[in-house]
Amino acid sequence: MHKITDCIERILLDEKMLAEKIAELGKKISEDYQNKNLLLVSILKGSVLFLSDLLRKITVPCKIDFMATSSFNGEVKSSGIVRLTKDLDTSIENYDVLIIEDILDSGATLSYILEILNAKKPKSIKICALLDKPEARKMNVEADYVGFKIPKVFVIGYGFDYQEEYRNLPFIGIPKPSLYS
Ligand code: IMP
Ligand code: MG
Repeated sequence: MHKITDCIERILLDEKMLAEKIAELGKKISEDYQNKNLLLVSILKGSVLFLSDLLRKITVPCKIDFMATSSFNGEVKSSGIVRLTKDLDTSIENYDVLIIEDILDSGATLSYILEILNAKKPKSIKICALLDKPEARKMNVEADYVGFKIPKVFVIGYGFDYQEEYRNLPFIGIPKPSLYS
C-alpha cells in the first residue's frame, strides 16, 4: 500500500512540537487582543490546519475569513508572481486583522496581501506565520508572530503541499529527493 509517509526523509517538526507552539501562540494572541475586534484572515490553502488548531487556543472573541492567492504553479520554488484568486467576504474597516499564513518565504505573497488589506482600511493589521525562512526573504516584510524559524529547505505536511498533495501529513517534514523525480 502506498503511504504518504514513505516519501519523508526526516521529520522537522512533530505533532507535539506543533501543538505546544500553537498553544503558546494562542495564549499570546489572546493576551494581545483583549478588548479588540479580532478578525483572523487565513490564507488558503496552506494555513487551514494551522488556523483550525490556533483558533481553538484563542480565548477572546474573534471571527474568521479567507483569502486565496496562487504563486507556486506546483513548483518547489516560488515564481514570485502572486495572483488573488479569492477575496474576503465582507468589509474589514472595523476589525483588528490578524493574517494567518503558513509560511513567510520570499515575502512576495504577504507583501501582496498586505497591500490589498491595507487598502481596505482595517483598524489594525498584523501577521502570524507558522514558519519563517529568513534566508529566503526578497521583500521587506516580517511577521509579528512566528511559530518556528527554519532554514531554506522545502517542507511538506501540516498544510504544506508538493503539487497539492501531502497537506494531510500530521507533522512537517523534509521529503526524500526522489519525490521530485
Ligand atoms: P512567498 O510568497 O515566497 O513568501 O511564498 C509563500 C508561499 O509559498 C506559501 O504560502 C507556501 O504556499 C509556499 N511555500 C513556501 N515555502 C514552502 C515549502 O517549503 N513547502 C511548501 N510550500 C511552500
Ligand atoms: Mg500558501
